Formats: sequence, structure tokens, C-alpha cells
Amino acid sequence: MNQQTQFQRTQTVQPTILYFGTPTVLLNTLNEDGTTNITPMSSAWSLGKCLVLGLGMGSKGLQNMQRHPECVVNLPDPSLWKNVEALAPLTGLNPVPNHKRGKFVFEKDKFAASGLTPADSLCVMPQRILECPLQIEAKVADIRMPDHSPFAIIEVLSVHVHAHENIVIDQHHINPKTWSPLIYNFRHYFGLGDELGKTFRATT
Ligand SMILES: Cc1cc2nc3c(=O)[nH]c(=O)nc-3n(C[C@H](O)[C@H](O)[C@H](O)COP(=O)(O)O)c2cc1C
Repeated sequence: MNQQTQFQRTQTVQPTILYFGTPTVLLNTLNEDGTTNITPMSSAWSLGKCLVLGLGMGSKGLQNMQRHPECVVNLPDPSLWKNVEALAPLTGLNPVPNHKRGKFVFEKDKFAASGLTPADSLCVMPQRILECPLQIEAKVADIRMPDHSPFAIIEVLSVHVHAHENIVIDQHHINPKTWSPLIYNFRHYFGLGDELGKTFRATT
């Protein structure tokens, strides 16, 4: 068998999850009492100023955005993976929904639980997370609840972006050599490997 044939061979799989490696997000939303909840998530991507988020219907983050349509999309780097993982077994929902009982516990103060530091936002009420190199304040534009899935699809619009100084170049560009997302890859955390190259439209 030559090498090419070997690479082309596939097998049929029925994966229990399809989280094929996307940046981890810490999504901050506003609780009823004005405090901030933090939801770790990874089903997130951007279309210009629009960010598309996928959130389970039984999550405090979703409930909060239905009531108060603002959030902060914080992007941790790989050094923060243990802070993210400290949030993993927690929910801001009390009581804990049936499908999460036994695995998740209620936690009101997600900042204390994760060892992360709150900072007031400029344009939205939920606080942002100081340790995250990118903090995107955003307003909810649309929440869709598809019949075919237990996940809501939420579109939010970026209204203000904060970036740590060491990842900014030329004032308005993020430096891809100093910024590195924390990748959630089939439920395991990874950083980025070495740069391979750049696209013809790259300006940095
Ligand atoms: C790294 C990571 C990524 C996750 N990605 C998602 C996701 O994209 N969507 C989602 O609904 N839940 C995701 N979860 C699970 C939620 O964090 C979990 O349901 C949590 O209890 C929600 O918190 P909340 O109820 O306080 O909002 C993820 C968890 C971790 C640790």
C-alpha cells in the first residue's frame, strides 16, 4: 500500500461529540442581582463584528442573555486553562437542572471559584475578566432556539474590544505572534503550535 492510499482510507465513526477544536471563550452575562456569571464555552466564531455563540438551553448564561441582552466574550490564553477548568463543573443555575445533577454544582461567585479578576465594562453591564488578553463587550442581536437541537444559537454584536497591550501592533491590529487562543479540542485543552505561514490578505 503506498502512502497516499493509506491517508485516504477512512472508517465510519459515530462520535459522541464533534468539538473539533475551537477557541475557548469565557462568556460573562448579568445575573438578576447585577453580579456577573461566567460560562465557559467553545462553540463561538466571528463574522465581522457579529459573533455567533452556541449555548445549551439549560444554562445560566443563556437565561441571563434572554433577560438582559448584553455580554462580554472573554478569550483566555493557554496559561489560563486551569482557571477555565475550575469553572467546568459549575453552573450559575439554582437549582441545578436535572440533566446536570451529580456532575455539576451551583456556584454564584464564578470569579472567586476560578481565581479570575473582574473589571467594569465600558458599554455593557456584565463585568469583563482582566486576565483574558481579549475582552469583547457585545450586545445580543438575536437568539434562535432551533426545534432540532437543545442548543440556542445567539448572535451578538461587538461594541467595544479591550486587548492586552502586548498583543496589539499598529494600534488596531492584534499581533498573531503574541496572541494565542486556548483551543478546546475534543474536550482537551491545547495551545497553538508554531506558525506555518500567512494568507495573501494578511496585513501584519
Ligand atoms: C472548555 C469548555 C467549553 C464548553 N463549551 C460549551 C459550549 O460551547 N456551549 C455550551 O452550551 N456549553 C459549553 N460548555 C459547558 C458549560 O460551560 C456548562 O454547561 C456550564 O455549566 C454552563 O454554566 P452556566 O449554567 O453558569 O451558564 C463548555 C464547558 C467547558 C469547560
